[in-house]
Amino acid sequence: MERTLAKDLFKQIGKKVQVRGWLNNVRSLGKVQFLILRDRSGFIQIVIQEKEEFQKIAYLQPGSILLIEGEVVSSNSELRCEITNPKISVEVPIEEPSLIEYYKPKIPSDPEFILDHRPLALRNREIAAVFKIQAALAHAYRLFMVEKMEAVEYFAPNMIGASSEGGSEFFSVDYFGHTATLAQSSQLYKQIMVGVNERVFALMPFFRAEPSHTTRHLTEGKQFEFEMGFFKDWHEILDIQENCIKFIVDYLHTHHQTEIDTLGGTIVSAPKDVPFPRLTFKEAQELYFKRTGLDERNEPDLSPVAEKELCKYAQETYGTDLIFITDWKTCKRPFYAYPKENDPELTNTFDLLCAGTEITSGGQRRHIYPSMLEGLKIKEMDPKHFEDYLSIFRFGMPPHGGFGMGLERLTMTLLKLKNIREASLFPSDPKRIAGQRIKAHIFFGGENIRGEIIRLLKNKDMEYKHLIHEATPTSEDSARVRGTKLEEGVKSILLRGKNSKKNYQFNIPSHFKLDMKAVAEAVGEKCEFEDPAVIEERFGLIIGGVPPFGPLLNLETFFDEDIKKRSQVAFNCGLLTESIIMNTEDLIRLVDPKWGCFTKI
Ligand code: 4AD
Ligand code: MG
Repeated sequence: MERTLAKDLFKQIGKKVQVRGWLNNVRSLGKVQFLILRDRSGFIQIVIQEKEEFQKIAYLQPGSILLIEGEVVSSNSELRCEITNPKISVEVPIEEPSLIEYYKPKIPSDPEFILDHRPLALRNREIAAVFKIQAALAHAYRLFMVEKMEAVEYFAPNMIGASSEGGSEFFSVDYFGHTATLAQSSQLYKQIMVGVNERVFALMPFFRAEPSHTTRHLTEGKQFEFEMGFFKDWHEILDIQENCIKFIVDYLHTHHQTEIDTLGGTIVSAPKDVPFPRLTFKEAQELYFKRTGLDERNEPDLSPVAEKELCKYAQETYGTDLIFITDWKTCKRPFYAYPKENDPELTNTFDLLCAGTEITSGGQRRHIYPSMLEGLKIKEMDPKHFEDYLSIFRFGMPPHGGFGMGLERLTMTLLKLKNIREASLFPSDPKRIAGQRIKAHIFFGGENIRGEIIRLLKNKDMEYKHLIHEATPTSEDSARVRGTKLEEGVKSILLRGKNSKKNYQFNIPSHFKLDMKAVAEAVGEKCEFEDPAVIEERFGLIIGGVPPFGPLLNLETFFDEDIKKRSQVAFNCGLLTESIIMNTEDLIRLVDPKWGCFTKI
């Protein structure tokens, strides 16, 4: 028998079929069991009434691979039909409970926990829908570029010789002893390709050494690139960008309404007959001032709040979530930006904002050789690093321009996601590489942690005393052997969130008790003390030896306000037999904790 997919099941009502997929979950209703099977096209409900069949799967966990034959009958469930009288074969039995509840409609965990279990979390229906739509965005973009624009796709290198966007936000890699740069965009290559094909496009990885931890920055992403030559007016680039977005939104509604519905039914609005408003940077600043009374008119850039307000304006006034901001200041744009003929302080450039966030930057480029040299000079960049690129201007480039649109930003804003990490399969940011927490910075075991604390203190030239003494299980013992006051001692407590199962570190003066109510308020969930055996296994630490350096253990770390009252602090630095005494101020500087009142007497 041929395999039938979930999406085609309704065509087989009254017939016998074979289905294959992952066990998603089982619901029990008295003597009847409902098994939900997942395949690449959706979900299938299988009704099990026979005890013998149920026994085959009773011990199985989500993820088991099953092959099931049975009869398709119509039903009034969301899936329209279901399978009855099943004969189940277990192809791959899984008995271990899943690390994360991905099989529920919404994963009931916090975003960090979801990222920590990314490979499994991606199987969740909502999360999977995001990435099906993301794939469709890329497909629609290619269709638009090839069929509507007659543009030619190019594949540029990602390891390159020099930064294209200037600034310091790039990664260097050791390349056989030379320093190479990971591309921030394929800007220079797309301009080179305009010299070949006039109209070119790409979907390129980009790398940005953005240390900022915001909801809209990643350190690795993809950019939709476009570049064209021979326009009459540079605003034609904006027209193309606008048509491109409308084409993509239309494509999603036509081909991916199911996924849109899974995500709540609505995406960003970009009605075909409503042009995206176009404001100059100056007009945008004035409008923001007029609408909010907040004066940013002397700033060289728009703040994230202003970007939100401008999109709100577009939505309220025109019913579209997108707005162009043009004519940005030269000081804020890269060296290749085309200066306005009547005002060289400004450039022929634009940003496109979507639902509150910049998704695209673009504009016209300098295309005459001396002008390009001038652009480099203004930004104090060395033309020697750009010889290949510069050769195209020596040998004829037409007026040209284009844009770079972030795939993850587009996904996030179109789908109204809260955080760009939700729009990247395996997001990289200052805390993670390809989804995984950066493990190199996590220390394990008392001696390693003590070593690292002392290294940090020495490195920052901070004053401290390191004591070796008898094991001190209580705070009183510690104060005695250290010769410090009881209240100078800092007690580090490791907790576990009751819902998220995540660990937190709370630090309070030794003579106080932890107030669990205040703790729950601070972290947004009830907590309990972590099991000493787990602490030993996970961190290599013994209770009483834990130092108030939660970040070294990759823990969200809290300090009680009362700690600030003493000028020096003392604590066990990883081991029961070793302590450190240091200035409170220095400790705060090294740990950078969150603050609150977490104690009772
Ligand atoms: O605004 P950017 O830096 O412009 C360029 O790279 C130019 N070469 C584009 C051009 O053709 N003139 O980056 C373009 C877009 C941004 O608008 C944003 O959508 C995305 O790329 N982007 C990022 N997305 C997530 N995290 C980051 N750190 C991003 N940096 C850029
Ligand atoms: Mg930009």
